[in-house]
Amino acid sequence: MKRILLVAVLLVTFLNGLVAREGMWVPILLGKYNLEEMQQMGFRLSAEDIYDVNNASMKDAVVLFGGGCTGELISGDGLLITNHHCGYRQIQMHSSVENDYLTHGFWAKNRAGELPNQGLSVSFLERMEDVTTRVLEGTSGISPEEAEAKRNRNITAIEREAQENGKFRATVRPFFYGNQYFLHVYKVYTDVRLVGAPPSAIGKFGGDTDNWMWPRHTGDFALFRIYAGKDNEPAAYSKENVPFKPRKFFPISLKGAEPGDFTMVFGYPGRTTQYLPSQAVDLILSQRNPDRIAIRDTKLDIMNSHMGRDAKVRIQYASKNAGVSNSWKKWQGEILGLERLNAVESKREFESRFRDWAMDNGTWDSAYSSLFNLFETQYRDYAPLAKASDYYSEIVWSGIEIFTMANYFNIFLNQVERQDEISESAAMSLQRLVDNFFKDFHQPLDEEMFARLLPVLVSDLPSGHLPDNLHQVLKKYPGDNLIRNFYRKSILINQDRLNELVTSNSVKKFKTMENDPVFQLFRALRNHYDVQVGPLVNRIESDLESAMKPYMAGIMRMMDGKSFYPDANSTLRVSYGRVEGYEPRDGVKYKHYTTLEGIMEKDNPEIYDYDVPERLRQLYRDRDYGEYAREGKMPVCFIASNHTTGGNSGSPVINSEGHLIGINFDRCWEGTMSDIMYDPEQCRNIALDMRYALFIIDRFAGAGYLLGEMEIIR
Ligand code: ARG
Ligand code: GLU
Repeated sequence: MKRILLVAVLLVTFLNGLVAREGMWVPILLGKYNLEEMQQMGFRLSAEDIYDVNNASMKDAVVLFGGGCTGELISGDGLLITNHHCGYRQIQMHSSVENDYLTHGFWAKNRAGELPNQGLSVSFLERMEDVTTRVLEGTSGISPEEAEAKRNRNITAIEREAQENGKFRATVRPFFYGNQYFLHVYKVYTDVRLVGAPPSAIGKFGGDTDNWMWPRHTGDFALFRIYAGKDNEPAAYSKENVPFKPRKFFPISLKGAEPGDFTMVFGYPGRTTQYLPSQAVDLILSQRNPDRIAIRDTKLDIMNSHMGRDAKVRIQYASKNAGVSNSWKKWQGEILGLERLNAVESKREFESRFRDWAMDNGTWDSAYSSLFNLFETQYRDYAPLAKASDYYSEIVWSGIEIFTMANYFNIFLNQVERQDEISESAAMSLQRLVDNFFKDFHQPLDEEMFARLLPVLVSDLPSGHLPDNLHQVLKKYPGDNLIRNFYRKSILINQDRLNELVTSNSVKKFKTMENDPVFQLFRALRNHYDVQVGPLVNRIESDLESAMKPYMAGIMRMMDGKSFYPDANSTLRVSYGRVEGYEPRDGVKYKHYTTLEGIMEKDNPEIYDYDVPERLRQLYRDRDYGEYAREGKMPVCFIASNHTTGGNSGSPVINSEGHLIGINFDRCWEGTMSDIMYDPEQCRNIALDMRYALFIIDRFAGAGYLLGEMEIIR
């Protein structure tokens, strides 16, 4: 008996160890690579329950939300849940000092009260397909340039056919650096309305202080509803539209999950780079992340001081600040994680193993030695160019907002110059850009960005990467002189003058912009980058990218028999793992979940990020948890070992029976390097417990009427 028990225990431990938690898998290949393992881990359904073209499956309940998040359907009437931070921009756009939904939350009283959102769309994956053979058709035996052109023509043809005259959006994307190609066909709905959002003190509880960290207590969710035409097909916003009827929506389970339980995350991870050579990782670690962090230190310093002084500015810059702060903090965690994993060294070791393998089988000289040389020399040349590219991105293309406006006009003027007339639609879209810009613009803040960031360009980049006159300008106009002689002399921040221009319909008037001091500065930077820097950056990046194709194929050959997952590329993926805590450092063990008790421990009205709403305190004092508590406590968040990245925000966390138990919204600090190197011991995704979301909707917001349309598993 004892021996049987021992064997059983060993077997379980062995299986546990065997289970790979790393990977973002392709939905149509689950049956081939993953299902068996998923079922061993406890998953009770089939691959077709997740993805099926002919029958309703989970994929029909998951959407790409906006440009970079995930959302999922939770009712037959098009109700959708995603993260508060994914709907943040929309919530902010509807907010003003008088109607401050960021601070107080928003709950539509009825369907007529749901708020439309210009520019927001959700995409459903209709189907995906391996189109490698078609993409590569006719590309062998010709020059690399001809092959690329041919590939692009093939891709365009495949996409055009799949779009069915505009009925669908279709994209063909390379996987494994072009060793494989997949077509994705989407149906896109553009009438998506805001239904509800908790106050930021819940939806963003812990703010940027707790961001990327565990233990976490953020109620990071918001509700939207998809509307469609009477035929249930996509339609532009109209009062006549009706709630969309999805093929499938997720039942919500109140059962929660225990350590060891199977979970899967189904969503749209944005970008990972797991197969990079050591030189690339080194560049990120020693140059790119530190550079970008330092520039953002300055940006955040400026934003925070202005936002702290003025409630209006706080709302105007809330979303911009969250964006800048988010990557700033992640890059710092990533550096720590890569250092702890000794990532560069371990990549080098891998590369030397690869070399041995290729030498042994006689392919080194013919196939790989030149690749390894190329990595060595190209990354050396790339480093200064990447630096320039990072500085331009952080300072010129975003950061200094008057340059954003200059950019709008520069693009417009270039168009006008080519056509010699102003088209009505171009003028209208310019007008929209101008209007949106000024809604969230605070000049004193941007003046400070201008005065503090421009000198950083000059002090940190070699002069060859900047337009000639920039050094002189900065020398001649130090400090505030720069603001007085450039910024305040520019019409780019004068809304009335810009409106006059836009409505003038006169090419001649537009051309006067060319005398504007800031516009000139911007154009000089733009032109210098486009001529002296951009083409070099593009060439090296494209050479490196092309070199990755044979390298990747080589890695797969070397490790024949292992299942590989492609890097994230904003296409639908499945990650799976288990609910589990972790040990961040010696002597410390993290549990897998948090509760409302932790919110009350953090409660401090003096600290903006920890100021608990009085109503939530009251619910806590009364233990008024409805049916959502467990053992007298209100669960808030939990962690699991699902491999996720940016874009997985809002993704459903699904249990073994296909029920929704959580909404993914973050990763733990010690595991943020997982985009480059995954560590099963340290990498955890953070999810909001659905029970907390329902508790907030029901008990806190009194919006329990929304629960009526959900399917709740008790
Ligand atoms: N870190 C999460 C993600 O990458 C949440 C970001 C939003 N929250 C914030 N405090 N900025 O998107
Ligand atoms: N918060 C991220 C997002 O917006 C998810 C966290 C991550 O990077 O894993 O997608």
